[in-house]
Amino acid sequence: MALTLEAPAKLNLFLEVMGRRPDGYHELRTVMVPVSLCDRLEFRKRRSGTRVKFDPPLPGPNTVERAVALLRRRTGFRGGVEIRVQKRIPLGAGLGGGSADGAAALVGLNRLLHLKLGHPDLMDLAAQIGSDVPFFLAGGPALCSGRGERVVPLKIDWPPRFVLGMPAFSISTAGIYRRLGPGLRGPRRRVEGFLADLVRRRWRPFNRLEGPAFRERPELRGLLRALGPGARMTGSGAACFVPARRGLRPRPESARIWTVRLLRSLPGWDV
Ligand code: C5P
Repeated sequence: MALTLEAPAKLNLFLEVMGRRPDGYHELRTVMVPVSLCDRLEFRKRRSGTRVKFDPPLPGPNTVERAVALLRRRTGFRGGVEIRVQKRIPLGAGLGGGSADGAAALVGLNRLLHLKLGHPDLMDLAAQIGSDVPFFLAGGPALCSGRGERVVPLKIDWPPRFVLGMPAFSISTAGIYRRLGPGLRGPRRRVEGFLADLVRRRWRPFNRLEGPAFRERPELRGLLRALGPGARMTGSGAACFVPARRGLRPRPESARIWTVRLLRSLPGWDV
């Protein structure tokens, strides 16, 4: 018997960096929403061992194998599993595709193998996979703090649709945080203000990582301009987004474009 889960991309509608922490990570306040651009994971039992297959193939270590290893260690599970991942979310995009796959692997295997891990256990394993992974276990929009792993669900259903643009290059998250330097001086934006505006349907998105990302890739300014007023970068980039406007579909040159829906819940996750 197989089990299938759709693992959604996320957008950071607001991302402020409060400061650098002694452990080298950065203290964040970020509002994230899942959207309808999804990877698809298929889980099956097999006789023995772990088999993870990405389509198209993914070089290097991945969050799905990491999730299986952590689940085995936590539960003592010794049986075989096979996971196939249809990759649709671009890499190095700030869309959280790797994080979503890792979270989906925890949820999918917990169910398929009857491992009976509760929400706190899954959140703990998720944080060990990566800073953005616990967000996906909230199953909808959320305010995340700490290095991203402290998650408070939020009711957000506006804007309902976004246009996403992904340039021809990707960006490494660690490199962008390293370049942040001057961005850590001066006053901080308050997430409360952003949320109060959002409730009144005023679109005032913010991303502190745009400064270092634009220094690394000045072309990103062109992509933002092409997407139109109110466009922002998501996470550490390189993807950018803008609320979708009826009858208007931006067509930036040399960028892949999607129209996506905001997801208020994750179908099939039951988290
Ligand atoms: O947690 P994750 O492995 O996804 O983070 C990737 C890199 O991004 C980290 O190694 C770190 O350099 C940076 N990062 C950070 N502060 C955060 C999240 C990530 O400095 N809150």
